[in-house]
Amino acid sequence: MDKIVIINGPNLNLLGKRETAIYGTETFEDFFLKLKNEYPNVAFSYFQSNIEGEIVNKLQEFGFADYNGIILNPAAYTHTSIAIADAIKAIKTPVVEVHISNITNREKYRHTSYITPFCKGSIIGFGLNSYRLAVESFLI
Ligand code: DQA
Repeated sequence: MDKIVIINGPNLNLLGKRETAIYGTETFEDFFLKLKNEYPNVAFSYFQSNIEGEIVNKLQEFGFADYNGIILNPAAYTHTSIAIADAIKAIKTPVVEVHISNITNREKYRHTSYITPFCKGSIIGFGLNSYRLAVESFLI
């Protein structure tokens, strides 16, 4: 069975009520239920944390496990975290970077991603569909 883990960073637990003009009105929990129904042959795991080190710990945990891939939205840590970039570099499981918004047409400080060079690829700007496309990327 295909196995995929989704790791979300800070403030993504507020999806649905956070800056809805940018991030939409759907909660991640609702979206995740739909995703699991759409891909019955994929075993999904999900982890969200507002804490940088916890994200590093999860990358290390899933990074040497028997998984097709890791879908990672590090949220604001994308633009600041050398620790998360180093963890991606260190692990074996491929990581696809995901962003709900198009970070390249927002504030300048969002234009830099420390993780892009170490990811298999990046999917940005398609709303929550970015996660769907990332799932597809591990199945094709
Ligand atoms: C985000 C974009 C980041 O710049 C921001 O800090 C987030 C969410 C996105 O999915 O669009 O929290 O990663």
